[in-house]
Amino acid sequence: MEIARRFIKERILSRDEFVLLLQQSGDADVREMLRQEAFALCRKYYGNKVYIRGLIEFTNYCKNNCYYCGIRRDNRNVRRYRLTEEEILSCCREGYALGYRTFVLQGGDDPYFTDERMTELIRRIKENHPDCAITLSIGEREKESYRKFREAGADRYLLRHETADEAHYRSLHPQEMSLSHRMKCLYDLKELGYQVGAGFMVGSPGQTLVNIADDLLFLHRLQPEMVGIGPFIPHHDTRYAGEKAGSVDMTIFLLSVIRILLPKVLLPATTALGTMDPFGREKGLLAGANVVMPNLSPEKNRKDYSLYDNKICTGEEAAQSIAALRKKVESVGCQVVTDRGDALR
Ligand code: 5AD
Repeated sequence: MEIARRFIKERILSRDEFVLLLQQSGDADVREMLRQEAFALCRKYYGNKVYIRGLIEFTNYCKNNCYYCGIRRDNRNVRRYRLTEEEILSCCREGYALGYRTFVLQGGDDPYFTDERMTELIRRIKENHPDCAITLSIGEREKESYRKFREAGADRYLLRHETADEAHYRSLHPQEMSLSHRMKCLYDLKELGYQVGAGFMVGSPGQTLVNIADDLLFLHRLQPEMVGIGPFIPHHDTRYAGEKAGSVDMTIFLLSVIRILLPKVLLPATTALGTMDPFGREKGLLAGANVVMPNLSPEKNRKDYSLYDNKICTGEEAAQSIAALRKKVESVGCQVVTDRGDALR
């Protein structure tokens, strides 16, 4: 209780103190105290607004082989797809008509989408929808590539750091990937003027409370505009098939902690959270989250973007079900808004 109070007051703790705080994530009083503070901060800066982002999963080809991910390169059981430029533009048109003003282009790390193809795509989306924000989520690239995308009109970039601990990073990723490069990408993106999103999985294999404390300290150093966290969920075609999933309660607790750590951050109640608990997203919104990212991908491809098992992609998860989503959001006293929802700086 004492440490939670201090955190609310100072908005930062030392590494050891964060570990102490995380050890109390099961304490109902501590949870409720942080939740209320997080909720109040969210109200203070964003009112009861919930921002919606149309998520377009435009390719599931990936040259990386992250051990936890269902669409990793070596998984032969994935039916690979790539949307055409026309298909992507048509997702945006449909999304625009539904009220979406941010399009998140998310994909595997797919070399087919060269800098030239990406910039052309970004240009065309901006041409059709000059009042919309474009968020990219396409992995690690050279700073020069990020610069071209930015000049073509990209506004934001999501690149979860996954874990801020070198050894833990090594255990989740193959040799050819490195934490230092990922962090360099995040700082490059910031320098180029992107609104940047980092983040990590909660309960990923081997994750300790000390790792999470380091994730929090890293987020505090980076000062990202957005943070994406969701529970780890095993995928049957990975080495972690038999691991247990991350905890919904810990995820909710961390949403509150992150809201307090970075009061103005844009914080999604993620698909993974909604997958693990039918009320996961509502709980997230009550604990400091203020963004949801419904799926705008073509129906026919949705189930092939299988990062983890049982990923929800129809029903209220679909961008098309915006009326149902509004109801859900209103059930917890919030209101879906359709403006771009840029980060407050
Ligand atoms: N469980 C939960 N989240 C996952 N991601 C990838 N695989 C899984 C999984 N098995 C997350 C990663 C990545 C984001 C796009 O999806 O954090 O950055």
